[in-house]
Amino acid sequence: QCCWMMLENQCRIFLRHSLTKETSRQKHTLPDLPYDYDALEPHISAESMWRHHTKYHAEYVKNLNMIQEKYLEALQMGDVRAETTLKPARMLNFGGHFNHSILWNSLSPNGGGEPKGVLLNTIRRDFGSFEKMKQQMSAASMSVQGSGWGWLGYNRLRRKLEIATCSNEDMLQSETGLTPLLGVDAWEHAYCFQYNSRRSDYIKSIWNVINWDEVSKRFKTVH
Ligand SMILES: [Fe+2]
Repeated sequence: QCCWMMLENQCRIFLRHSLTKETSRQKHTLPDLPYDYDALEPHISAESMWRHHTKYHAEYVKNLNMIQEKYLEALQMGDVRAETTLKPARMLNFGGHFNHSILWNSLSPNGGGEPKGVLLNTIRRDFGSFEKMKQQMSAASMSVQGSGWGWLGYNRLRRKLEIATCSNEDMLQSETGLTPLLGVDAWEHAYCFQYNSRRSDYIKSIWNVINWDEVSKRFKTVH
């Protein structure tokens, strides 16, 4: 719960800065994985996890800190043009950092199977069955054109679980208003080292390592 709340807080602070031009020099850091790189084998290979974490996620964090620095300088100088130019890259790299931080927490070597309790009941209520939710989310993740994510999110206004997709590293909440519960990274970098271009095989496999206890904890904090 603590971990999810930290993430949520980070996101809120980031988005507030975009809106009110508050300044902060706080550096973002690459979170450690809560398991070893080879822990999700054979479903996700050690090489895939290592590259995904140390190359792709680390790159987002590095770029985010660099852009953040320039962005704050632009704000302080009143350089509106630089501020506008930097905004998309700032959003992309923050989104990449945020989405991947959720992803690592949603996986576990002891994962797979079905969730329990309130989350399972709500999935059954909103999708008919766990299997139907899985099919819908797999299909959504497959349908992402180019790079993006498939998500299971919670619609707080309608009090309902929903499936959605986002392009690139767009953040689910900013794009759709849904609170993110579980994301499937449909970028090629997530699966190409193990599955080549077979995104469907990777999506089939990822269900074996979903940490439903963590996803349930997150659901408890938002519904
Ligand atoms: Fe990724």
